[in-house]
Amino acid sequence: MPPTGSVADSEFLDERVPVELGPRSYIVRVGNRRLDAFGSFVRQALDRSWAGRTSRTALVVTDSNLTALGLHSAYEAALSAAGIEPVTVLVPPGEGSKSLAGAAKLYDALVAFKADRHTAIVALGGGVIGDLAGFVAATYARGLPLVMVPTTLLAQVDSSVGGKVGINHPAAKNIIGAFHQPVGVWIDTGALDSLPLREVRCGLAEVVKYGVIMDAPFFADLERDARAILARDPRALLHIVGRSCRLKAQVVAQDEREESGLRAILNFGHTVGHAIETVAGYAGEFQHGEAVAAGMVAESRLAERLGWISPDAIERLVRLLDRFGLPTSAPGLDREHLLEAMSRDKKNRQGKIRFVLPRAIGRVETTDAASEEDVRAMLAELVSLSAPETPLSRGQIE
Ligand SMILES: NC(=O)c1ccc[n+]([C@@H]2O[C@H](COP(=O)([O-])OP(=O)(O)OC[C@H]3O[C@@H](n4cnc5c(N)ncnc54)[C@H](O)[C@@H]3O)[C@@H](O)[C@H]2O)c1
Ligand SMILES: [Zn+2]
Repeated sequence: MPPTGSVADSEFLDERVPVELGPRSYIVRVGNRRLDAFGSFVRQALDRSWAGRTSRTALVVTDSNLTALGLHSAYEAALSAAGIEPVTVLVPPGEGSKSLAGAAKLYDALVAFKADRHTAIVALGGGVIGDLAGFVAATYARGLPLVMVPTTLLAQVDSSVGGKVGINHPAAKNIIGAFHQPVGVWIDTGALDSLPLREVRCGLAEVVKYGVIMDAPFFADLERDARAILARDPRALLHIVGRSCRLKAQVVAQDEREESGLRAILNFGHTVGHAIETVAGYAGEFQHGEAVAAGMVAESRLAERLGWISPDAIERLVRLLDRFGLPTSAPGLDREHLLEAMSRDKKNRQGKIRFVLPRAIGRVETTDAASEEDVRAMLAELVSLSAPETPLSRGQIE
């Protein structure tokens, strides 16, 4: 990674990642602080859809953390300049807004300003805003054009691309939802400068996941650039966000609605990860990305038990997650509760837990070949109090 202080040169500022979905195709534009181009990007993205072609208004959905940072006003000004009148609605930050009540508030706003099928929705924020605003866009007037402007690393590399939108039911996360592809995704990696470090780390867990499931050279880039990434070097961020979007776009293009099984590879680390989140409690010690990090290590160890992957590969994974300050185990959690939570996973068939497991760094396969004994042994290792926690203490940039 060549040293960079600023992003003065322009050769890498505007990566355009196409998501090829026939008539629902769109561009993910990845850049750094190029807000001057935002208005024309939105106009062009809208012009590609029937409803968007005559869009003159947009509901901008964001949260108070973003308005406190002043992030929204430049986007509003750019929309106005492009002939799209913005009306901004704030939702409270946090997962609680991904609810029927949160959606109702947005429907009320749309009704109040007499939105029609040509009103665009602009989701400016993290995954919560994208999922909620996207769900409202999918359902109001049977579908409004949606522009995603993700501002967390997780949203930039994962939730904004692919068309899954939804809200939570009090009894189950993401259970009320739809597939609704955006007309365009605008990513400014400069927005990540204000993101709390813990949120950056959580996004990095998904980035590491892409390397393990489908791109060994990218995994090696992450090993090489870990320090620059944590320091939020602009070039390093553009590289990881651009490549992650490209990889997700590739998967989504081949299996848009998670029907062929290919899209399921994105669940690597998530079978155990979701169980950790459930058992530790959603508001608890483990955020999603942290649970996925520990889940990826546990599932890799399961692959090792099946003779699929070498200990060296697992060592590389553990070392990289450590460097990113992510947990690689979940000491003290209850094994039986974890097993119970995994047994309820919707991927399971005929009572056997289905996993996505690595054959090597860069290649995974879905399997239900793991015996209950293997799974129990994996969990014992995951929760063992003597399991190496993160040797580089969390919270420290190495
Ligand atoms: N649709 C999908 O395919 C998909 C995939 C993965 C995750 N998700 C969903 O995404 C959600 C999690 O998203 P998230 O991790 O982005 O969390 P989030 O949306 O809650 O954002 C995290 C926090 O960061 C703040 N924030 C956002 N941008 C900021 C910035 N630039 N600077 C400072 N603070 C900022 C937010 O206000 C919030 O407090 C979950 O609900 C999850 O279910 C969806
Ligand atoms: Zn995830």
